[in-house]
Amino acid sequence: MISADVIIVGAGIAAHSVACRLADSDKKVIMITKSKKENCNSTLAQGGISVALGENDSYMQHYEDTLTAGCGLNNKESTLKLVKTAPDVIREFIDKGMEFDKNPDGSISFGKEAAHRLARVIHAGGDRTGLKVMEQLYRNLDGRAEIVENEPVIDVILKDGAAKGVVTRTAQGKYNTYCAPYVVLACGGVGNLYPGTSNDGTITGDSVALGYRCGAELKNLEFVQFHPTLLTFNGKNFGLITEAVRGDGGVLINEKGEKIMEGVHPMKDLAPRDVVSRAVYTHTLKGEQIFLDISAISGFKERFPYVSEICESNGVDLSKNLIPVAPGAHFHMGGIKALPTGETSVEGLYAVGEAACTGVHGANRLASNSLLEGLVFGKLTAENILNSNRQLEECEYVFPETQPVRPLPTKKEIKRVMMNCVGIIRTEEKLKRAVEFFEKYMPEGKDFGRIDPRSVSDEELEIYNMLTAGWLIAKAAEARKESFGAHYIEGEV
Ligand code: FUM
Repeated sequence: MISADVIIVGAGIAAHSVACRLADSDKKVIMITKSKKENCNSTLAQGGISVALGENDSYMQHYEDTLTAGCGLNNKESTLKLVKTAPDVIREFIDKGMEFDKNPDGSISFGKEAAHRLARVIHAGGDRTGLKVMEQLYRNLDGRAEIVENEPVIDVILKDGAAKGVVTRTAQGKYNTYCAPYVVLACGGVGNLYPGTSNDGTITGDSVALGYRCGAELKNLEFVQFHPTLLTFNGKNFGLITEAVRGDGGVLINEKGEKIMEGVHPMKDLAPRDVVSRAVYTHTLKGEQIFLDISAISGFKERFPYVSEICESNGVDLSKNLIPVAPGAHFHMGGIKALPTGETSVEGLYAVGEAACTGVHGANRLASNSLLEGLVFGKLTAENILNSNRQLEECEYVFPETQPVRPLPTKKEIKRVMMNCVGIIRTEEKLKRAVEFFEKYMPEGKDFGRIDPRSVSDEELEIYNMLTAGWLIAKAAEARKESFGAHYIEGEV
């Protein structure tokens, strides 16, 4: 048995924010990730962090914009906590060494993104904000937490209904039991449940599945955000083209050069993401290629070095000023129901970042609120842990006897069902079909509970987690009869 004060599953911004604050108080932290620590969505984030630090801004304006984008389904208390705490957390991060991009006069440069009334997105390295933020967090943590890589977490271990640790499997097939009075799930969302995604390849719905299997309450699972602009051609996507490109003057056009957002929404190309994604998707369904016209942006390569690299390395000639795009799965507004302090319905179990649903994103996340959530609620989670006194207990993992239904589907089949039936445009009939598809794979015809990990490979474990998360999302979508934000039922509105 390996023991720690706190076990964190995941290694992105939320995980590191929790770990840094705990390490400041000399807690023994073990962070566990199924791949390398850099394999997370945070390092891929481009646009930035939204925070009311500008002269003409206020946290109340940030709050209102977050609610408008979220279609008012946000948890108002949590949202207020996020936007109000944000300026201090960002100032503290800057004091600890983080450098955001500046204007020539030395002031912080604010970018504009969709559904923000003004420019409030701070960024670093142009469009490499996520990577720069993570590099700073690695420096801040400075080896004060043990980071275990390449060990998928199989299950949270419960005793008397409380989380007491986790069980993992090493590359050599050894099962490790890690015991701690606090288990924090910070292992991201569900991007790879869909064929096109901005997410790292490791993000396969593990947090939803782990939370479900240990009985945690889940919330808002039906809300999956699609980002309108992934570099896409010949049916394949090659990475995110940040919304900041549209914030700086990029315009979505069709093959005839017509602006596709004209007359769709008053904010046009900077309408909330669900609106823009649906518009682009409607065109692509008709077989049209949509482009991001960047001709109005001067100094594109300097402002967007990473986007330029993604385009050029995939053969897009930027001198033509046209980037072919299509929407892709980007962010899960739903997840394990949690407070801003990370607490979930299971004692000792915390969830933070994209893994959690604190309700701050409502039905559609406001751009650049996700890195912010990781930093701010990560800190509040650590503080909650520091102010409570759960005791370490020995924990033991008992192998379940249940076997999965074989043959399992391929990842490609699951992704096809999710995109066709639980994607950008849904119908009641398609959602019903999706639920039926998933239920064929329920062990013993019951639910997607714990299975014997000795009978599945790592790939099959991911597939099982994808089946679990896909089923839960499809069922939640089936249950919500009205369209809201990212959950759009055709013909209903
Ligand atoms: O477009 C982007 O850079 C994405 C930002 C976000 O998801 O918040």
